[in-house]
Amino acid sequence: MNFRLGIIGGGQLALYLCEAAQRLGVEVAVFSATADAPALQAADTAILGDADNAADIERFLGHCDVVTFDMEAVANETLNQLYLADAEGRIAVRPGPDTLFMLKDKALQKAWLQAQGLPTLPFSVYPGAAASAESFMAGLEVPLVQKARCGGYDGRGVQILATRQDLEKLWDTPSIIEPCLQGCREISVITARGLSGELHSYPPVSMDFDPGLNSVRTVSMPAEIPADLAARAVRIAEQAVDKLRGVGVFAIEMFITGDGELLINEISPRVHNSGHLTLDACNVSQFEQHVRAVLGMPLLAVRQHSAAAMLNILYEESLREHCPATPVAKKHAARRTTLYWYGKAPGKPGRKMGHINALAPTADEAVLLANQTLNKLSAQREGYAA
Ligand SMILES: Nc1ncnc2c1ncn2[C@@H]1O[C@H](COP(=O)(O)OP(=O)(O)OP(=O)(O)O)[C@@H](O)[C@H]1O
Ligand SMILES: [Mg+2]
Repeated sequence: MNFRLGIIGGGQLALYLCEAAQRLGVEVAVFSATADAPALQAADTAILGDADNAADIERFLGHCDVVTFDMEAVANETLNQLYLADAEGRIAVRPGPDTLFMLKDKALQKAWLQAQGLPTLPFSVYPGAAASAESFMAGLEVPLVQKARCGGYDGRGVQILATRQDLEKLWDTPSIIEPCLQGCREISVITARGLSGELHSYPPVSMDFDPGLNSVRTVSMPAEIPADLAARAVRIAEQAVDKLRGVGVFAIEMFITGDGELLINEISPRVHNSGHLTLDACNVSQFEQHVRAVLGMPLLAVRQHSAAAMLNILYEESLREHCPATPVAKKHAARRTTLYWYGKAPGKPGRKMGHINALAPTADEAVLLANQTLNKLSAQREGYAA
C-alpha cells in the first residue's frame, strides 16, 4: 500500500484511525492545533498547526495522498483549499469537502434531509443577534430544542426550552429550533460506503444520554429493538449515505418516536463515539472500515461476534490519578472488558478521557459489566490493574 493517509484533527477518533491504518501498512500524518492531542503521539508524521492557516495546511498536504477527518468543524477556507488541492489531483479528500460543508451546519443538514425526503423533525432557522426572539417564538409550541448551527459537540450547543419562561434563555446565536421529543429512544447506525459505492452497516446501537449534559453515557449493541425496526434503521442510514455519495464511515443518529417512527437526528461524516464498541465486538472496527473506504480498499462484510456495551469515561476528580499521560488500551481477557485511555491531561470535568468496552452474552449484561468496571475504577486509589 503506497498511499499516505492524512487526518485533520488529532483526538481519540484520529488515534484509532491512525492505529488501524498503520496495521494495514499505511503511513499516517496527523494535523492538530493542540500539542497534547492523543493522535499526535501515534502518527508517523505529526503536524502541529493552525487549521485556518493555509501555509500550515499546505505543509501537511505534502505528507498525504488521501486526506480524511476526525471532526467536521473545519473552516470553510480550509475546506476550499482542500477542494482545490483535490481538484488539481494533488490529493484525494474523502469524504469530500462539500459533504463536510453541508453536514457541519445543522440548518443546511436539516434542509438537505428534508429535500431528500429523509425522515427528520421539522425545524426553523433562528438567525440570532438581529432577530427578535419574541416574535420568532410566538408561533412555536414548547417544549423545544435549540441547537447552534455550527460548532456544537457532545451536547454543547444544544439546549432544551421546556417552558415559555425558558424562551428567555434563548441563545443569541444562529441556530435551529425543533420540537423536543421527550423520553424518546435514540439509536445510531454506523454505515460505511466504499469508493465504488458499496455499503456496509453495523447493527444499530442504543444510546443512553446523560440528561443534564445531553451527552452520550452508554452505548449498547445490538439495540434492543424489533428486527424489522432495526432493518428499517439500516435502510434509512444507507439511503442517506448513498444520497450523499459519501466515501468513508458515517454515523446516523436517529430518534424512535412513541409510534415507532424513525427520525434522523443528525449525520456525522466520520467515525463516531457510538461506534467505539466495534473495536471489540466485531470482525472489523469502524476505524479499519473507514481507512479501507477512504483508501479505496475493499470493505469487509460486518459480523458482530458478541453483544457489547461502551461507557464513556468522563472526567471527574476521583479519576485524576488514573489517567495515563499517553494513550493505552488495557484488555482484561477473562473479564471481557477493555479500558481505553486517550492520554489526555486530567482537569476538565465532563471531558471524554477514555472509554470502557465490555462484551457479554446480552447487551444488558454488557452494560452492567461496563458499569461495574467503571465503579471499580472510581473506587480505586491506585492505578487501574485491569
Ligand atoms: N429534538 C430533540 N428532542 C429531544 N432530545 C433531543 C432533541 N435534539 C437533541 N436532543 C438531545 O440532545 C442530544 C445532542 O443533540 P445533537 O445530537 O443534535 O447534538 P450534538 O452536540 O451535535 O451531538 P453529539 O453529542 O453527537 O456531538 C441528542 O442526542 C438528544 O439526546
Ligand atoms: Mg449527536
